[in-house]
Amino acid sequence: MPVISAELDKFFNEKMKEYPTKRSFLVPMLLYTQDELGYLTDEAIAHLAKKTELTELEVRNVISYYSLLRTRPLGKYHVQVCTNISCMLRGGEELYEHCKERLGIGHKMTTPDGMFSLEEVECIGACSWAPAVQVNYDFHENLTPDAMDAVLDQYKKR
Ligand code: FES
Repeated sequence: MPVISAELDKFFNEKMKEYPTKRSFLVPMLLYTQDELGYLTDEAIAHLAKKTELTELEVRNVISYYSLLRTRPLGKYHVQVCTNISCMLRGGEELYEHCKERLGIGHKMTTPDGMFSLEEVECIGACSWAPAVQVNYDFHENLTPDAMDAVLDQYKKR
């Protein structure tokens, strides 16, 4: 069974030609692979190492450097709570604590049903509407604990 789809592999082969070295295209390949698989599996890491003529350890070193790359599956809905300065001043830390309590999990953990994962993050670029939370690719702003409950309920019902 292929590690990644044939389409993605073909795209990598074509795109890689535009880069000065194979390893220059590693981070984009990791991101595309993660988008397709949900996380970077051992098999995917081995596949990309072979493709870029790197060792698996070298690929893993790159993965560990970038916080947005992950080697474990996330929940169906990944809740990222910003506690950076603007959000912190407007209740971001309390919001994060509330999420921890409500979901029963901590930083980079996933609920037992696989529905939600939680992460405390740095600025997500929504400072003007702090405190802000990103769930997958959606932003939720000017949140209070009650408003956050409503957001989580919304996802739970989907
Ligand atoms: S500080 Fe939270 S979005 Fe910028």
